[in-house]
Order: sequence, then C-alpha cells, then structure tokens
Amino acid sequence: MRFLDGHRPANDLTYDDVFLLPNRSDVESRFDVDLSTVDGTGTTIPIVVANMTAVAGRRMAETVARRGGLVVLPQDVDPAAVAGITEWVKGRHPVWDTPLVLTGGDAVADALNLVGKRAHGAVVVVDGEGRPAGIVDEAACAGVDRFTRLADIAEPVLVTCSLETPAREVFDMLHARGAKLAVGVDGDGRLAGVLTAIGALRADIYTPALDDQGALRIAAAVGVNGDVAAKAEAVLEAGVDVLVVDTAHGHQDKMFTALKAVRSVSPSVPVVAGNVVTAEGTRDLIDAGADVVKVGVGPGAMCTTRMMTGVGRPQFSAVADCAAAARALGKHVWADGGIRHPRDVALALAAGASAAMVGSWFAGTHESPGDLRYDENGRPYKESFGMASKRAVGARTRSDDAFDRARKALFEEGISSSKMHLDPARPGVEDLLDSIGSGVRSSFTYAGARNIEEFHERAVLGVQSAAGFAEGRPLPSGW
Ligand code: XMP
Repeated sequence: MRFLDGHRPANDLTYDDVFLLPNRSDVESRFDVDLSTVDGTGTTIPIVVANMTAVAGRRMAETVARRGGLVVLPQDVDPAAVAGITEWVKGRHPVWDTPLVLTGGDAVADALNLVGKRAHGAVVVVDGEGRPAGIVDEAACAGVDRFTRLADIAEPVLVTCSLETPAREVFDMLHARGAKLAVGVDGDGRLAGVLTAIGALRADIYTPALDDQGALRIAAAVGVNGDVAAKAEAVLEAGVDVLVVDTAHGHQDKMFTALKAVRSVSPSVPVVAGNVVTAEGTRDLIDAGADVVKVGVGPGAMCTTRMMTGVGRPQFSAVADCAAAARALGKHVWADGGIRHPRDVALALAAGASAAMVGSWFAGTHESPGDLRYDENGRPYKESFGMASKRAVGARTRSDDAFDRARKALFEEGISSSKMHLDPARPGVEDLLDSIGSGVRSSFTYAGARNIEEFHERAVLGVQSAAGFAEGRPLPSGW
C-alpha cells in the first residue's frame, strides 16, 4: 500500500478519509479474484462476524461459514452452550440450508412465528415419517385465519432432489418449474435441506469455510478473566476451529497471562487476540503467541469508548500501522469495527488486514439472534447492543450479587439498545455478503489484484475531504 504523491497523511485517518485510485489492470473480471485468506483461519472471504450477542449465534454461524466467512461466538456464551452450537453448526450441510419444519396439524400462527428466522422465508410441512408434504410461505398465510391448519394451505413441493444434486442442476430445475424452493431429501426420502434459486447460485460462486472433516468452521471468543485455560480447553474440545482472546484493552498484562494459558492448552490452534491500535501492542501480542491481532479501539457502531475516555485511534491508520508491524513478523491483523459499507472492507484489506470484522451492520438481518420487531412506521428491525453496555454487562454478571452487578453496570462503555433496520433489498446476511463481495472484488479489478496479498501490495490511496467522501454517495431517492 502506498499513498499518492502529495497525499502523505499528516493525521491519522478513518475509512471515510481515504480513497483508492484505479491502477492499470489486467484483471478483467470479478470472478478472476480470489478472496481466500492466508491467515490460517480458513476463510474464503475476508469477513468475520464479531463476537457480539446481538449478532453472532448459530444461524449466523451456519450461514456465513457456508459462504466462506467465520463467526465468532461471544465469550459470554458458556462453554456447554458453545459445544452445543458448534456440534449443531458442524452437523449442517455445506450447501443445503437448514429447513424450518412443521407438520400439517400445526397452525398458520406457528408458521408465521418461524418464517422470519430464515432468509428463504418458508416452512416445509412434513408427514409423520419426516418426509416433505408441502411448503408454506408468508404469501400462503396472507388473509388466512391464524388457527388454520397448515395441511389446508400447504402448496405442493415442485422440486425434490437428493443432497448430492449439483447446485447448478437445482437452479435449473427451480427455474424451469417456476418454483421458489427446492427440497433436499436423504436416502429414505426424509427432509434434509432446502435451497432457493439464489442459494443454488451462491453455492456455485462461494466456497464454504470447512474444517479437515468437511464441516463448517466456527470460532469462539474467550475473555481474559477467570480460568481462561479451562474455557479454551472446553471450547476446543467442542470442535471450535479458531480461538479469539478478546478484551477491550488488549495491550494489558491480563491478556499476556490469558495468551499463555491458551497456548498451554493448544500450541497449534489459530489464536486471534486483541484489541490494540498500536504497532507496539501488535508486536507484544504476537510475541505472546497470537497468530492474528484484532485491531480497533472505539470505531464500533455500539462503542462509546472514545467519547467516554478519549482513547482510540482512527481505524484506517490503526489497521495500517498494526498490519505493517504484524506483516514484518509474518503474522496478520483483523480490522475490527466501523465497517458500514463494502468500501470499508476494501480499505481495510488495502491497509493490510487479512479480514474485516463486522458486528452491528449484520445485526439487522434474518440470521442475527434477536427478535424481529417493527418500528412506528412498520419497518422491521432488530436490536443491537454493545458488549460493554449496561445491558451486556448486566447479562454477564447475572450470578453476581445485586451490589456487584450495579457497581459493574455503572462503568458501561457501549450502547444498550439501537435499532438496526433490515434493508428491504438485503434482509439476509448473505445479501450483505453478496454486496460486500461484489464491491471488494471490483476494487481488486480496479487495483489489478487477483488476491488479498496483491491487493495490499498494489493499493494506491489518497486522502479526501468530507466533501470528497460526500461526492461519492449516490443521491437519495426523491431529491
Ligand atoms: P461494528 O461497528 O461492526 O463493530 O459494530 C464491532 C466491534 O465493536 C466492538 N464493540 C464495542 N466497543 N463498547 C466498545 O467500546 C462496546 O460496548 C462494544 N461492543 C462491541 C467490538 O470490538 C466489536 O467487534
């Protein structure tokens, strides 16, 4: 990465402060670009979902890993629950989506409670043997009494195939029959998965992030408090592929003790540690055993750290400095926080990150764990909240006595509730991944880069004014 002549930054920079210049390029198509990481975490797209309770759960983990990314389960999830989620995620099919299942005797109300949970938006009705008998989507429920039995409104399954059917063939069958959903069955004809046309298309474009056994990958965070070795051991035993040692101030003694504990449990598992924003912090964490350093203090959408403490650093410069320090030691950084647009991911990679972590942006999707709610204008949203907010601290300290809980909640450094609207055009996390992938792949073609390393090497950046950033925004409708 280099700055355009005359654009050497005098100050630290945010993503909004910088822009990328097009280079002479021989990369003709976005499909000539490989977004796989070389940081040892096994992702095939440079996206990691942040360990936030409002964002990272099992549906998110399954869906994002299927598209090549990685989800980090929050450290507040106890090891037994991490084990349950990991087993469940690893039991998912790498191509076929997990169906929402009801029986003919269930009611429309049951179907309506479920359909918002998954982007494919339909329930498969099964018989007593678990064989598919029909499909119910939101449209089929419209105008029907909530007590109506699903058997009375289910539509016939138009495409049924084995899980081995190539995605391209499934796509063609759906297209030819005008069907929305293909139903995948096992050798006994029992329901085993569903696939939409866009799901089949994505299966053809993306490469899932898989472990050595061919199961979807997943990461889990451990904090720096308590018996870190025991927690690390438990989640590794559960099959977690990547460990994230996470605390707001990663450049502190407790972190070094925690890293030592984690390394004593497993010298070989990829370990990510943070957060820091300095080259010195990066070197110290690598020295203590981190393979990847998590960079970012205060850029997160739910963070109040900078306003509360004045501590932090504009994220583009933090990532660039830390990445340079990590690269000098043959290691990597994840850019954590402040990702709001596909361009931010491209800029994080240009700065030298091997992946960008996304939190709140993904809270407003079907796959985040929160309940779908509607605002005063009828727009669907889910709530996001910071992991250092009163709400998260309250949940984390549930077993403390009332005084201790109240004392800890006084020192919040995060937002407790913020509405994340579902984008009507992109309500699922895969829609957002498509959009990020499309933007980032295009950035690579502009830069003349075929992979993440080439992109970092070739990236030429300039510094822009606020007006320069504003100029790049499309005009809103109704202007
Ligand atoms: P985004 O912008 O994607 O950022 O939501 C995700 C990252 O934000 C950090 N985080 C917090 N930082 N107080 C903070 O100061 C908080 O309550 C908080 N919650 C999350 C965290 O690094 C996450 O990955």
